[in-house]
Amino acid sequence: MAADARLICASDELRDGGAGVRFAVVRHGHEEPAFAVRFRGRVFAYYNRCGHVPVELDWQPGEFFDDSGLYLICTTHGALYAPESGRCLGGRCNGKGLAPLPVEEREGFVYFIPEE
Ligand code: FES
Repeated sequence: MAADARLICASDELRDGGAGVRFAVVRHGHEEPAFAVRFRGRVFAYYNRCGHVPVELDWQPGEFFDDSGLYLICTTHGALYAPESGRCLGGRCNGKGLAPLPVEEREGFVYFIPEE
């Protein structure tokens, strides 16, 4: 694991298709909101920024999935994203997906791996 890996949360805080965990990453000297979710057993993380308008996806903190638990949804206008890739699947994201972040799950914890 990279030396500068940053703890996001314990693995059991992320239920499959359930609530996500918000965290922040520093990019170009600014802190930007991000989130991690679990889908089909794996953990994925993205900048918390819709492809339509650069707002955060969750009105209720941590609520990133739609009711089906199969898609990530922006609560502002309902754009849908694939949890495993961030790809825009429909709605106002108009083909513009979520920006992914590298994460690693190890020994019961989830880490953000900053890019060198
Ligand atoms: S701001 Fe996300 S769909 Fe419009």
